[in-house]
Amino acid sequence: MRVAVAGLGPMGRGIARVFAQAGAAVAIVDVDEETTARGHAKILEDGPVDVTPAASVAEAARDADLFIEAIVERFEAKLALLDRIRAAGNAALVVASNTSSLSIGELGAAYGDPARVIGMHFFNPPTKMRLVEIIRGARTDPEVVDRARAWATGLGKTAVLCADSPNFIVNRVCRPLYYESQLLVTQGVPPAVVDAAVKGALGHRMGPLELLDFTGLHTHLGSSETALREFGDPRYRPIPLTRQLVRAGTTGRAAGRGYYDYALGKPREAQ
Ligand code: NAI
Repeated sequence: MRVAVAGLGPMGRGIARVFAQAGAAVAIVDVDEETTARGHAKILEDGPVDVTPAASVAEAARDADLFIEAIVERFEAKLALLDRIRAAGNAALVVASNTSSLSIGELGAAYGDPARVIGMHFFNPPTKMRLVEIIRGARTDPEVVDRARAWATGLGKTAVLCADSPNFIVNRVCRPLYYESQLLVTQGVPPAVVDAAVKGALGHRMGPLELLDFTGLHTHLGSSETALREFGDPRYRPIPLTRQLVRAGTTGRAAGRGYYDYALGKPREAQ
């Protein structure tokens, strides 16, 4: 099978790797050739794997069976990308979004062929985490749903079918943990204390604040904004501290600093 992956952040890089390791021919693309080359080099840092940088979205989409978009969690950016995929003229293509929160039905309508658009939501890191949420939009073709499930299980993943509802299942269930943990920090409880307490009591491998740093606070903020907009319920409101950290560019582990400071090579609590 031929797979195209757009967006070479941690998710796109990991998704490209798992498909390549399963034997797919994988083309990768980011915003421009230089960024694509940087993403390619980062993929190879984790060990040799056969993925091919594409010069453009159209080139990646033209011969693919499946196009997975894992670009930044912003609706307008995803729409612009879908336009470019559509312009490649590959009518048989299945388009899967790795979005954490946006409506698959809405992305499908924007693409112009909603039957062929689906959500395939991998977890971070995609090479290790077993679950893939499969999200059927209102007009997704049932045959496309079956194919997406088969592709996910072919990667050795467990696929669960989710409603097309903001944050789907896992991130929705985790949302109160994220919210309350961040609120505790604003009330003066150190992040490491919150995380140690939650890990000690619930047996989780990572505390909620470590996990948010790992996810990227910008991505978490994007998901929170979608949930608030769609549900209109204040319990989905992003707390101001998240916004401040994102505005300051301290978006978590990849940025070197978030709730923790990673500058010394090991997590230390941010001051
Ligand atoms: P990121 O924000 O770290 O990286 C996004 C990448 O997309 C960047 O390399 C950027 O240059 C690229 N990009 C932006 N616009 C583009 C375009 N028009 N064409 C091609 N590339 C473009 O994102 P991350 O964390 O890898 O997440 C990507 C997607 O996966 C988001 O939709 C996010 O909600 C979702 N997701 C994230 C998870 C996480 O733990 N970070 C977990 C599951 C899903």
